[in-house]
Amino acid sequence: MSHENKVIDEAMQGEATMLNDSEDTTSKKKLFIESYGCQMNFSDSEVVASIMKNDGYATTRNVDEADVVLINTCSIRENAETRVRNRLTEFKKKKEDNPELVVGILGCMAERLKKNLLEEEKLVDLVAGPDAYRDLPNLIEEVGTGQKAVNVLLSRDETYADISPVRLDQGGISAFVTIMRGCDNMCSFCVVPFTRGRERSRDPHTIVQECRDLFEKGYREVTLLGQNVDSYRWNISSKGEIKDPSQPTTNFAQLMEMVALVSPELRVRFSTSHPKDMTDDVLEIMAKYENICPYIHLPVQSGNTDCLYRMNRGYSREWYLERIDAIKRIIPDCAISTDIITGFCGETEEEHQDTLSLMDAVQYDFAYMFKYSERPKTLAERRFADDVPDDVKGRRLNEIIEKQLASSLSSNKRQIGTIQKVLIEGKSKRSDEHLCGRTGRNSMVIFPKLDCEKGQYVMVRIDECTSATLMGEIVSKC
Ligand code: 5AD
Ligand code: SF4
Repeated sequence: MSHENKVIDEAMQGEATMLNDSEDTTSKKKLFIESYGCQMNFSDSEVVASIMKNDGYATTRNVDEADVVLINTCSIRENAETRVRNRLTEFKKKKEDNPELVVGILGCMAERLKKNLLEEEKLVDLVAGPDAYRDLPNLIEEVGTGQKAVNVLLSRDETYADISPVRLDQGGISAFVTIMRGCDNMCSFCVVPFTRGRERSRDPHTIVQECRDLFEKGYREVTLLGQNVDSYRWNISSKGEIKDPSQPTTNFAQLMEMVALVSPELRVRFSTSHPKDMTDDVLEIMAKYENICPYIHLPVQSGNTDCLYRMNRGYSREWYLERIDAIKRIIPDCAISTDIITGFCGETEEEHQDTLSLMDAVQYDFAYMFKYSERPKTLAERRFADDVPDDVKGRRLNEIIEKQLASSLSSNKRQIGTIQKVLIEGKSKRSDEHLCGRTGRNSMVIFPKLDCEKGQYVMVRIDECTSATLMGEIVSKC
């Protein structure tokens, strides 16, 4: 496996997933759902499972017994789409044996490829975009009457706020909670504003209620999700005006505080922050609450100001480094991760060197690193040539990966000898005698299980590490 594939696989988190708490063996209709791409897609699949459950569908892990197969797709890079296409070809073969089987695609590839997938390649019967999931029962009915069913309309206000997601199998400890949808940023490389539409925030009370329900069901960690969580706003217009003066307003810092107050035993994480919008009040709230994890994912994309300008990121290298200083000042032990793109349009060797030197300056704990992949309709596709040769993109990617591996290793080595509070997620892949869990800084730790189990907090002394994992021993229970 090439470096790039490995890194992208980690970023894409592999495949999902079947549902646990909804399985109902008495129901006649069965749904098989699989997710690709970002955490938001995984979270959306839980909303879809809930809508389908209300329409009488039980979920199954066995595709051979499914009446409906839904694939929640990703368009962010070309190879994400290729993976989904390969999977759809496999399902097409299943349809030859079972012509009644309904195969549908959801998510980001829906709008982009609806015509090809439905009409030209005939790979699917149904296409539903990210804002059309409530329409799925109707669309499935349309397929039953022999029609090709499509709904890719994007909405300005759909947040699925009232839908209580059916949880996918994450061990029942950690859950994603979507707080906003869409993105208004228009980074020039990014297809998301076209596939997911305009930014809109979800009612904070429904978010807090969902977190409370999760805690009562035994969950101990929530990750608040949005493409750009720092621009979360409720009852405030995009121009900053209060929409309804008789109602309170909520920004992201305030929302995080509301969620942190659900219980000190509930860990709060969030993703993704945007360097141009991340304010000190968010950092101050993080520092104030022990249960808001000291970990920030702050994608930089490039360490060079000219390249950032072409990327339309809205900040310079200096601005970004000032935000890093603010994190280190306000939350001294905060872990920081990032996303980096190599070989963006016009990226020179000097610009690439600036990315490497920025990595030296920040010392990221973790990074997701990608070769630039041109996406249709984006500003970059329209304005710039994708002119960095693939072998140069690959070489630059290897250089940044190498730097990151060294930085991750030193970051983990600095943890050796410390005692960390770990939330146990379950058995380690290494052996049944070991458990695994995460520190607040989001490092995975493996340790002998003693008599502990998942969902418990334990204090673990860190004894050894690799660049990816910490190893240690439980010193006490919390
Ligand atoms: N090519 C490569 N990487 C991309 N990303 C987004 N669009 C592209 C693209 N066209 C990366 C960015 C973003 C992450 C989710 O995916 O780094 O932060
Ligand atoms: Fe894409 Fe930029 Fe929006 Fe992130 S902030 S989803 S990279 S447009």
